[in-house]
Amino acid sequence: MKTYRIAVVPGDGIGHEIVPAAWQVLEAAANKHAFQLEKETFPWGAGYYLNTGKFMPEEGMELLKSFDAIFFGAVGLPEVDDTLPAMLYTFKVRCGFEQYVNYRPVKLLAGLESPLRNKGQQDIDFVVLRENTEGEFVQNGKIFHPDSPHGLATETNVFTRQGIERIARYAFTLASRRRKTVTNVTKSNTLIHTLAYWDHVIGQVSAEFPDIEYRKMYVDAASANFVLHPEYFDVIVTTNMIGDILSDLGGAIMGSLGLGASGNLNPEKDFPSMFEPIHGSAPDIAGKGIANPIGQIWSGALMLDHLGEHKAALEILQGIEHCTKEKIRTPDLGGSATTMEVAAKVKEWVLT
Ligand code: NAI
Ligand code: MG
Repeated sequence: MKTYRIAVVPGDGIGHEIVPAAWQVLEAAANKHAFQLEKETFPWGAGYYLNTGKFMPEEGMELLKSFDAIFFGAVGLPEVDDTLPAMLYTFKVRCGFEQYVNYRPVKLLAGLESPLRNKGQQDIDFVVLRENTEGEFVQNGKIFHPDSPHGLATETNVFTRQGIERIARYAFTLASRRRKTVTNVTKSNTLIHTLAYWDHVIGQVSAEFPDIEYRKMYVDAASANFVLHPEYFDVIVTTNMIGDILSDLGGAIMGSLGLGASGNLNPEKDFPSMFEPIHGSAPDIAGKGIANPIGQIWSGALMLDHLGEHKAALEILQGIEHCTKEKIRTPDLGGSATTMEVAAKVKEWVLT
């Protein structure tokens, strides 16, 4: 039987609730489709930091490297400096394993109403591809004399030809399997060096894909269009920070941040890819058993798809939609179901 080795990192807060809930669904799909998921759980994150002074042990990356994929919740706790989770865990894994594609589907699920009046499933179905290893988030800067009157801070974005080309190629290739449109969301009218270069390189890559319509849109206009004309979008390719922000807006137009899924992909499979919901550890609702597990479960479906288990992935997504259609919903979607009840329902559908 085909066996995939999965590193499971629940992280902090609701990660401890939604990751085990989603895992049940993945195991059910594996049983049904005759493959095996072999999991090893790592207790890393902000809680681990409070005990050890580290988000993951020294050999953490080396340990993760041998797995087929990483199934991740979220990291961060109110009592831990919030500049640390990204630096010491999330970016470390994304960059260290060349997970240069952050794949974030935005799709109105069956039975749910978008907060956008008059917009239905046919209008909201696109993918945000966020460049995931460079750009605004390289953390290249310094704070000088913070408490003096002449204090100053710098932060320099980094964009490389290789970094832009590889995300652009992924975007055009993906669009060729979808509705054949790529929208580059940029801000090159004001970031006239980095993002003008970004546009320049993406424009060059677009020439290799004459069958794909290539459009460019500034992020301010794109934000408005997410709300007014979501049907305009098919594949969006954008930078690390713009993609981070827009994908939360994408989560919102789906109906809840708790629905958003993502894959941090190393398309070449030289390293494991990492799958996580788009939201954080939600300390405000942690421990109550009411977090929406759908973003985590959907991320699991993306993981199975990446591993080649396309049928199992599709059935999980169908299971999610049966659940939303039947109004088995957590409080963020106006329902009263618990995390485990939603996961159990999805699992039930996967098994039927
Ligand atoms: P958040 O995404 O954790 O929460 C924002 C709001 O959405 C909260 O009201 C929360 O209750 C709600 N929410 C999020 N996920 C939900 C779910 N599954 N079901 C129902 N409601 C949900 O963002 P916030 O509050 O800005 O950050 C909290 C912590 O998470 C911080 O420490 C932050 O650094 C960390 N974080 C970690 C990320 C990661 O590990 N990749 C990503 C984003 C934030
Ligand atoms: Mg974010």
